[in-house]
Amino acid sequence: MISPETFFDGAPAVNASAPGRVNMLGEHTDYNDGFMLPVATPQRTLAAVKPSGDDHFHFYSSTLDESVSFGRKFHAPQGFGSYIEGCVRLMEEHGVDVPPLRVYVSTNLPVGAGMSSSAALEVAVLRAIRELTGANVDDVLLARMAQQAEIRFAHVNCGIMDQMASSIADEEHLLFIDARTLEHHLLPMPEGAELIVMDSGVPRKLAASKYNERRAECNEAARMLGVQALRDVTDPDSVERLPTPLRERARHVVRENMRVLEAARGVSAARFGELMNASHASLRDDYEVSIEELDVLCARLREQPGVYGARLTGAGFGGAVVALCEKGRAQSAAREALFRYNTAHRQGRILIPEMAANNGEST
Ligand code: GLA
Repeated sequence: MISPETFFDGAPAVNASAPGRVNMLGEHTDYNDGFMLPVATPQRTLAAVKPSGDDHFHFYSSTLDESVSFGRKFHAPQGFGSYIEGCVRLMEEHGVDVPPLRVYVSTNLPVGAGMSSSAALEVAVLRAIRELTGANVDDVLLARMAQQAEIRFAHVNCGIMDQMASSIADEEHLLFIDARTLEHHLLPMPEGAELIVMDSGVPRKLAASKYNERRAECNEAARMLGVQALRDVTDPDSVERLPTPLRERARHVVRENMRVLEAARGVSAARFGELMNASHASLRDDYEVSIEELDVLCARLREQPGVYGARLTGAGFGGAVVALCEKGRAQSAAREALFRYNTAHRQGRILIPEMAANNGEST
Protein backbone atom coordinates (compact mmCIF):
# COMPACT_ATOMS: atom_id res chain seq x y z
CA MET A 1 0.00 0.00 0.00
CA ILE A 2 1.28 3.44 -0.93
CA SER A 3 0.95 6.24 1.63
CA PRO A 4 -0.50 9.63 0.62
CA GLU A 5 2.88 11.24 1.41
CA THR A 6 4.64 8.96 -1.07
CA PHE A 7 1.90 9.29 -3.69
CA PHE A 8 1.89 13.09 -3.55
CA ASP A 9 5.56 13.44 -2.74
CA GLY A 10 4.35 15.56 0.18
CA ALA A 11 0.85 16.74 0.93
CA PRO A 12 -2.20 16.84 -1.36
CA ALA A 13 -3.69 20.21 -2.30
CA VAL A 14 -7.20 19.23 -1.13
CA ASN A 15 -8.77 16.55 1.06
CA ALA A 16 -12.48 15.78 0.71
CA SER A 17 -14.80 12.99 1.77
CA ALA A 18 -18.32 11.67 1.32
CA PRO A 19 -20.48 9.04 3.04
CA GLY A 20 -22.32 6.03 1.69
CA ARG A 21 -26.04 5.66 2.26
CA VAL A 22 -28.57 3.34 3.80
CA ASN A 23 -32.05 3.68 2.41
CA MET A 24 -34.68 3.40 5.15
CA LEU A 25 -37.74 3.41 2.92
CA GLY A 26 -38.55 4.00 -0.75
CA GLU A 27 -36.83 1.24 -2.72
CA HIS A 28 -36.88 1.13 -6.52
CA THR A 29 -38.86 4.35 -6.52
CA ASP A 30 -36.19 6.81 -7.70
CA TYR A 31 -36.25 5.80 -11.37
CA ASN A 32 -40.04 6.03 -11.19
CA ASP A 33 -39.79 9.72 -10.22
CA GLY A 34 -40.86 8.78 -6.69
CA PHE A 35 -39.86 9.37 -3.09
CA MET A 36 -37.27 7.92 -0.71
CA LEU A 37 -35.74 8.32 2.75
CA PRO A 38 -32.03 7.47 2.93
CA VAL A 39 -29.53 8.34 5.68
CA ALA A 40 -25.76 8.79 5.40
CA THR A 41 -23.44 6.11 6.78
CA PRO A 42 -20.71 6.83 9.34
CA GLN A 43 -18.35 5.06 6.92
CA ARG A 44 -16.87 7.45 4.36
CA THR A 45 -14.71 7.60 1.27
CA LEU A 46 -11.77 10.02 1.25
CA ALA A 47 -10.40 11.67 -1.87
CA ALA A 48 -7.19 13.67 -1.86
CA VAL A 49 -6.13 15.53 -5.01
CA LYS A 50 -3.31 17.62 -6.38
CA PRO A 51 -2.45 18.77 -9.92
CA SER A 52 -0.10 16.16 -11.34
CA GLY A 53 2.23 18.66 -12.96
CA ASP A 54 2.60 16.41 -16.01
CA ASP A 55 0.19 15.60 -18.82
CA HIS A 56 -1.23 12.52 -17.14
CA PHE A 57 -3.88 11.55 -14.64
CA HIS A 58 -2.69 9.23 -11.87
CA PHE A 59 -5.26 7.58 -9.63
CA TYR A 60 -4.56 5.32 -6.67
CA SER A 61 -6.99 3.38 -4.48
CA SER A 62 -5.43 2.34 -1.20
CA THR A 63 -8.45 0.10 -0.52
CA LEU A 64 -7.78 -1.93 -3.68
CA ASP A 65 -4.04 -1.13 -3.74
CA GLU A 66 -4.42 -0.43 -7.45
CA SER A 67 -3.24 2.47 -9.55
CA VAL A 68 -4.03 3.71 -13.04
CA SER A 69 -2.34 6.36 -15.17
CA PHE A 70 -3.49 7.73 -18.51
CA GLY A 71 -2.87 10.70 -20.77
CA ARG A 72 -5.09 13.77 -20.76
CA LYS A 73 -6.76 12.79 -24.05
CA PHE A 74 -7.22 9.12 -23.13
CA HIS A 75 -9.49 7.12 -20.87
CA ALA A 76 -9.04 5.20 -17.64
CA PRO A 77 -9.48 1.44 -17.98
CA GLN A 78 -12.76 0.08 -16.53
CA GLY A 79 -12.53 -0.22 -12.76
CA PHE A 80 -12.32 2.32 -9.94
CA GLY A 81 -10.50 4.69 -12.33
CA SER A 82 -13.50 5.01 -14.64
CA TYR A 83 -15.63 6.43 -11.80
CA ILE A 84 -12.96 9.03 -11.06
CA GLU A 85 -12.39 9.85 -14.71
CA GLY A 86 -16.18 10.27 -15.09
CA CYS A 87 -16.10 12.93 -12.36
CA VAL A 88 -13.28 14.79 -14.09
CA ARG A 89 -15.06 14.69 -17.46
CA LEU A 90 -18.38 15.82 -16.01
CA MET A 91 -16.65 18.81 -14.41
CA GLU A 92 -15.01 19.59 -17.77
CA GLU A 93 -18.39 19.38 -19.52
CA HIS A 94 -19.66 21.87 -16.98
CA GLY A 95 -16.95 24.27 -18.17
CA VAL A 96 -14.53 23.70 -15.31
CA ASP A 97 -10.87 23.69 -16.29
CA VAL A 98 -9.56 20.58 -14.53
CA PRO A 99 -5.77 20.14 -14.71
CA PRO A 100 -4.35 16.61 -14.94
CA LEU A 101 -4.57 15.32 -11.39
CA ARG A 102 -3.15 12.90 -8.93
CA VAL A 103 -6.09 11.42 -7.01
CA TYR A 104 -5.72 9.22 -3.92
CA VAL A 105 -8.85 7.48 -2.64
CA SER A 106 -9.52 5.26 0.33
CA THR A 107 -12.65 4.05 2.07
CA ASN A 108 -13.95 2.18 5.05
CA LEU A 109 -17.23 1.52 3.25
CA PRO A 110 -17.73 -2.13 2.37
CA VAL A 111 -17.57 -2.38 -1.42
CA GLY A 112 -20.47 -4.27 -2.99
CA ALA A 113 -22.58 -4.56 0.19
CA GLY A 114 -25.21 -2.14 -1.04
CA MET A 115 -24.12 0.96 0.87
CA SER A 116 -23.32 2.91 -2.28
CA SER A 117 -19.57 2.93 -2.14
CA SER A 118 -19.61 4.04 -5.77
CA ALA A 119 -21.72 7.14 -5.04
CA ALA A 120 -19.43 7.97 -2.11
CA LEU A 121 -16.40 7.70 -4.40
CA GLU A 122 -17.96 9.97 -7.02
CA VAL A 123 -19.17 12.58 -4.54
CA ALA A 124 -15.85 12.63 -2.66
CA VAL A 125 -13.89 13.12 -5.91
CA LEU A 126 -16.28 15.79 -7.20
CA ARG A 127 -16.07 17.65 -3.88
CA ALA A 128 -12.29 17.55 -4.05
CA ILE A 129 -12.28 18.90 -7.61
CA ARG A 130 -14.85 21.56 -6.69
CA GLU A 131 -12.66 22.78 -3.88
CA LEU A 132 -9.47 22.64 -5.93
CA THR A 133 -10.91 24.58 -8.87
CA GLY A 134 -13.42 26.80 -7.04
CA ALA A 135 -16.10 25.47 -9.44
CA ASN A 136 -19.58 26.89 -8.95
CA VAL A 137 -21.43 23.61 -8.39
CA ASP A 138 -24.11 23.24 -5.73
CA ASP A 139 -24.79 19.98 -3.90
CA VAL A 140 -27.72 18.95 -6.10
CA LEU A 141 -25.81 19.59 -9.31
CA LEU A 142 -22.89 17.69 -7.81
CA ALA A 143 -25.21 14.71 -7.18
CA ARG A 144 -26.45 14.87 -10.77
CA MET A 145 -22.87 14.93 -12.07
CA ALA A 146 -22.00 11.95 -9.87
CA GLN A 147 -24.97 10.01 -11.27
CA GLN A 148 -23.94 10.87 -14.84
CA ALA A 149 -20.36 9.79 -14.12
CA GLU A 150 -21.68 6.43 -12.97
CA ILE A 151 -24.08 5.94 -15.89
CA ARG A 152 -21.77 7.10 -18.67
CA PHE A 153 -18.34 6.10 -17.46
CA ALA A 154 -18.95 3.09 -15.21
CA HIS A 155 -21.94 1.96 -17.32
CA VAL A 156 -24.24 1.40 -14.36
CA ASN A 157 -27.79 2.53 -15.10
CA CYS A 158 -28.57 3.89 -11.62
CA GLY A 159 -31.18 6.35 -10.36
CA ILE A 160 -30.39 9.53 -8.41
CA MET A 161 -30.97 8.36 -4.83
CA ASP A 162 -27.46 7.22 -3.91
CA GLN A 163 -25.71 10.33 -5.18
CA MET A 164 -28.28 12.70 -3.62
CA ALA A 165 -27.89 10.88 -0.32
CA SER A 166 -24.10 10.96 -0.44
CA SER A 167 -24.08 14.64 -1.38
CA ILE A 168 -26.78 15.91 0.99
CA ALA A 169 -27.76 13.42 3.72
CA ASP A 170 -26.29 13.28 7.21
CA GLU A 171 -26.15 10.48 9.79
CA GLU A 172 -28.70 11.95 12.18
CA HIS A 173 -31.64 12.57 9.86
CA LEU A 174 -33.73 10.96 7.18
CA LEU A 175 -33.28 12.75 3.86
CA PHE A 176 -36.62 13.00 2.08
CA ILE A 177 -36.00 13.14 -1.68
CA ASP A 178 -38.45 13.76 -4.48
CA ALA A 179 -36.64 12.15 -7.42
CA ARG A 180 -38.60 14.13 -10.02
CA THR A 181 -37.93 17.64 -8.75
CA LEU A 182 -34.93 16.81 -6.55
CA GLU A 183 -36.61 18.80 -3.80
CA HIS A 184 -35.33 17.45 -0.52
CA HIS A 185 -35.36 18.13 3.19
CA LEU A 186 -33.99 16.59 6.35
CA LEU A 187 -36.47 14.95 8.70
CA PRO A 188 -35.93 13.67 12.24
CA MET A 189 -35.35 9.97 12.75
CA PRO A 190 -38.27 8.18 14.40
CA GLU A 191 -38.09 9.10 18.07
CA GLY A 192 -36.14 6.83 20.38
CA ALA A 193 -34.82 4.66 17.57
CA GLU A 194 -31.47 3.77 16.05
CA LEU A 195 -30.30 1.78 13.05
CA ILE A 196 -28.85 -1.62 12.46
CA VAL A 197 -27.32 -2.43 9.09
CA MET A 198 -26.06 -5.90 8.31
CA ASP A 199 -24.44 -7.39 5.26
CA SER A 200 -25.96 -10.72 4.25
CA GLY A 201 -22.59 -11.79 2.88
CA VAL A 202 -24.20 -12.60 -0.47
CA PRO A 203 -22.75 -10.63 -3.39
CA ARG A 204 -25.37 -8.91 -5.55
CA LYS A 205 -24.93 -11.15 -8.57
CA LEU A 206 -28.12 -10.64 -10.53
CA ALA A 207 -28.51 -7.06 -9.46
CA ALA A 208 -27.48 -5.34 -12.70
CA SER A 209 -29.47 -7.41 -15.17
CA LYS A 210 -32.58 -7.63 -12.99
CA TYR A 211 -32.33 -3.93 -12.19
CA ASN A 212 -32.53 -3.04 -15.85
CA GLU A 213 -35.36 -5.53 -16.34
CA ARG A 214 -37.36 -3.94 -13.51
CA ARG A 215 -36.80 -0.47 -14.92
CA ALA A 216 -38.12 -1.60 -18.29
CA GLU A 217 -41.16 -3.22 -16.64
CA CYS A 218 -41.93 -0.02 -14.75
CA ASN A 219 -41.67 2.06 -17.90
CA GLU A 220 -44.02 -0.31 -19.67
CA ALA A 221 -46.49 -0.23 -16.75
CA ALA A 222 -46.45 3.58 -16.78
CA ARG A 223 -47.03 3.60 -20.53
CA MET A 224 -50.01 1.24 -20.24
CA LEU A 225 -51.48 3.35 -17.44
CA GLY A 226 -51.03 6.50 -19.52
CA VAL A 227 -48.82 8.30 -17.00
CA GLN A 228 -45.38 9.83 -17.37
CA ALA A 229 -44.02 7.73 -14.52
CA LEU A 230 -45.46 5.43 -11.85
CA ARG A 231 -45.13 8.31 -9.40
CA ASP A 232 -48.15 9.84 -11.15
CA VAL A 233 -50.50 6.97 -10.29
CA THR A 234 -52.89 8.42 -7.72
CA ASP A 235 -55.33 5.51 -7.39
CA PRO A 236 -53.42 2.44 -6.18
CA ASP A 237 -56.19 0.13 -7.40
CA SER A 238 -55.69 1.24 -11.00
CA VAL A 239 -52.58 -0.98 -11.28
CA GLU A 240 -54.70 -4.10 -10.72
CA ARG A 241 -55.85 -4.13 -14.34
CA LEU A 242 -52.30 -4.48 -15.67
CA PRO A 243 -51.07 -7.91 -16.83
CA THR A 244 -48.69 -9.90 -14.61
CA PRO A 245 -45.87 -9.12 -13.77
CA LEU A 246 -46.38 -5.42 -14.55
CA ARG A 247 -49.26 -5.37 -12.08
CA GLU A 248 -47.06 -6.54 -9.22
CA ARG A 249 -44.16 -4.25 -10.15
CA ALA A 250 -46.42 -1.20 -10.32
CA ARG A 251 -48.20 -2.21 -7.12
CA HIS A 252 -44.88 -2.21 -5.29
CA VAL A 253 -43.83 1.20 -6.60
CA VAL A 254 -47.17 2.91 -5.99
CA ARG A 255 -47.55 1.54 -2.47
CA GLU A 256 -43.89 2.11 -1.63
CA ASN A 257 -44.32 5.79 -2.50
CA MET A 258 -47.36 5.90 -0.20
CA ARG A 259 -45.30 4.35 2.60
CA VAL A 260 -42.59 6.98 2.19
CA LEU A 261 -45.11 9.81 2.21
CA GLU A 262 -46.72 8.44 5.35
CA ALA A 263 -43.36 8.08 7.10
CA ALA A 264 -42.31 11.57 6.00
CA ARG A 265 -45.36 13.05 7.70
CA GLY A 266 -43.83 11.80 10.97
CA VAL A 267 -44.74 8.46 12.55
CA SER A 268 -43.73 6.56 15.68
CA ALA A 269 -40.80 4.18 15.55
CA ALA A 270 -43.24 1.28 15.84
CA ARG A 271 -45.21 2.45 12.80
CA PHE A 272 -42.02 3.15 10.87
CA GLY A 273 -40.99 -0.44 11.60
CA GLU A 274 -44.29 -1.73 10.24
CA LEU A 275 -43.78 0.28 7.08
CA MET A 276 -40.30 -1.25 6.71
CA ASN A 277 -41.71 -4.76 7.12
CA ALA A 278 -44.40 -4.03 4.54
CA SER A 279 -41.74 -2.65 2.20
CA HIS A 280 -39.72 -5.84 2.50
CA ALA A 281 -42.75 -8.05 1.84
CA SER A 282 -43.56 -5.99 -1.23
CA LEU A 283 -39.97 -6.15 -2.51
CA ARG A 284 -40.01 -9.90 -1.97
CA ASP A 285 -43.45 -10.80 -3.31
CA ASP A 286 -44.37 -8.10 -5.84
CA TYR A 287 -41.06 -6.66 -6.98
CA GLU A 288 -39.19 -9.96 -6.65
CA VAL A 289 -35.77 -8.55 -5.82
CA SER A 290 -35.19 -10.38 -2.54
CA ILE A 291 -33.37 -13.66 -1.99
CA GLU A 292 -33.70 -16.21 0.77
CA GLU A 293 -30.72 -14.91 2.76
CA LEU A 294 -32.16 -11.38 2.92
CA ASP A 295 -35.52 -12.76 4.05
CA VAL A 296 -33.84 -14.89 6.73
CA LEU A 297 -31.66 -12.06 7.99
CA CYS A 298 -34.68 -9.74 8.27
CA ALA A 299 -36.57 -12.47 10.13
CA ARG A 300 -33.67 -12.97 12.56
CA LEU A 301 -33.55 -9.23 13.22
CA ARG A 302 -37.31 -8.94 13.75
CA GLU A 303 -37.10 -11.66 16.41
CA GLN A 304 -34.85 -9.51 18.57
CA PRO A 305 -36.30 -7.51 21.45
CA GLY A 306 -36.47 -3.84 20.60
CA VAL A 307 -36.45 -4.29 16.80
CA TYR A 308 -39.37 -2.44 15.18
CA GLY A 309 -38.90 -3.66 11.62
CA ALA A 310 -36.36 -4.79 9.02
CA ARG A 311 -36.06 -4.75 5.26
CA LEU A 312 -33.57 -5.23 2.48
CA THR A 313 -31.94 -1.96 1.48
CA GLY A 314 -30.58 -1.01 -1.94
CA ALA A 315 -31.24 -2.83 -5.18
CA GLY A 316 -31.63 -6.33 -3.68
CA PHE A 317 -30.38 -9.76 -4.83
CA GLY A 318 -27.88 -9.78 -1.95
CA GLY A 319 -26.11 -7.03 -0.04
CA ALA A 320 -27.46 -5.39 3.08
CA VAL A 321 -30.55 -5.21 5.25
CA VAL A 322 -31.54 -2.36 7.55
CA ALA A 323 -33.50 -2.55 10.79
CA LEU A 324 -34.96 0.07 13.08
CA CYS A 325 -34.37 -0.64 16.75
CA GLU A 326 -35.11 0.89 20.11
CA LYS A 327 -32.26 3.19 21.14
CA GLY A 328 -29.61 1.40 23.19
CA ARG A 329 -30.50 -2.07 21.97
CA ALA A 330 -28.95 -2.10 18.49
CA GLN A 331 -25.60 -3.62 19.49
CA SER A 332 -27.06 -6.63 21.27
CA ALA A 333 -29.86 -7.14 18.72
CA ALA A 334 -27.36 -7.06 15.85
CA ARG A 335 -24.98 -9.48 17.54
CA GLU A 336 -27.73 -11.94 18.41
CA ALA A 337 -29.27 -11.78 14.93
CA LEU A 338 -25.85 -12.32 13.36
CA PHE A 339 -25.20 -15.32 15.57
CA ARG A 340 -28.52 -16.87 14.55
CA TYR A 341 -28.09 -15.99 10.87
CA ASN A 342 -24.56 -17.30 10.31
CA THR A 343 -24.06 -20.89 9.22
CA ALA A 344 -21.11 -22.75 7.74
CA HIS A 345 -22.21 -21.55 4.27
CA ARG A 346 -23.38 -18.09 5.16
CA GLN A 347 -21.39 -15.40 6.93
CA GLY A 348 -22.98 -12.03 7.52
CA ARG A 349 -21.48 -9.04 9.31
CA ILE A 350 -22.61 -5.99 11.20
CA LEU A 351 -22.01 -2.68 9.41
CA ILE A 352 -23.94 -0.30 11.72
CA PRO A 353 -23.55 0.24 14.62
CA GLU A 354 -19.84 0.23 13.85
CA MET A 355 -18.11 -2.32 16.04
CA ALA A 356 -14.38 -2.77 15.93
CA ALA A 357 -14.60 -6.58 15.85
CA ASN A 358 -16.89 -6.52 12.84
CA ASN A 359 -15.21 -4.00 10.62
CA GLY A 360 -12.31 -5.58 8.84
CA GLU A 361 -12.10 -2.91 6.13
CA SER A 362 -9.09 -0.68 5.98
CA THR A 363 -9.34 3.07 5.85
C1 GLA B 1 -29.54 1.15 -6.53
C2 GLA B 1 -29.57 2.37 -7.44
C3 GLA B 1 -30.50 3.45 -6.88
C4 GLA B 1 -31.88 2.87 -6.56
C5 GLA B 1 -31.75 1.58 -5.73
C6 GLA B 1 -33.07 0.89 -5.51
O1 GLA B 1 -28.97 1.49 -5.29
O2 GLA B 1 -28.28 2.91 -7.57
O3 GLA B 1 -30.61 4.51 -7.80
O4 GLA B 1 -32.61 2.64 -7.73
O5 GLA B 1 -30.86 0.66 -6.33
O6 GLA B 1 -33.92 1.66 -4.73
